[in-house]
Amino acid sequence: MHSEWILNQIEALEIKKKINLLDFASGNGRNCIPLANKNIIVTAVDKDQEKLNKYKNLKNINAICFDLESNEKWPLVKEYYDVIIVINYLHRPKINKLINLLKKDGFLFYETFSEGNEKYGSPQNPNFLLKEGELLEIFGKKLLPVSFYEGILNYGKITIKQRACFKKGAL
Ligand SMILES: C[S@@+](CC[C@H](N)C(=O)[O-])C[C@H]1O[C@@H](n2cnc3c(N)ncnc32)[C@H](O)[C@@H]1O
Repeated sequence: MHSEWILNQIEALEIKKKINLLDFASGNGRNCIPLANKNIIVTAVDKDQEKLNKYKNLKNINAICFDLESNEKWPLVKEYYDVIIVINYLHRPKINKLINLLKKDGFLFYETFSEGNEKYGSPQNPNFLLKEGELLEIFGKKLLPVSFYEGILNYGKITIKQRACFKKGAL
């Protein structure tokens, strides 16, 4: 099941012209597959080729197999993406680089697990759990916070997450 929040947020943008959307650590494509269409051209990047194989040949999706935590230069284009989505992935050492990938007036949507989630399930490793308010801390200085939620989400299973939307440039 995809992240309903992400799909609703992107629908609310009422996209009428062609845009470039980056799904960062896209996994099995559950979020980017339903988003790809003639107006939303998706770049999906993940290190897992097997997962990418499921959707690499779909129309309007460019699937890139790449280890985002390696020291190699990312095969992604600076200031190119109108929308970036990151769901259930956190690698703090390079997280700031997402800002450079976003086009002016572009949106970053980030949803992942927060501290407290370890009581309910995985992930439990602190490297994969955001600290209180951390998305605002990381992105709020350079991007404009549009929305922020931190707390319990219950879609049949309780998780503790942060969800945030940021815009690059003036609102
Ligand atoms: C929990 S899954 C989330 C996938 C997707 N965003 C979703 O919400 O369904 C985390 C994904 O991050 C990818 N990943 C983990 N480490 C990575 C790395 N170093 N480079 C690229 N992708 C990575 C995994 O292969 C996996 O598909």
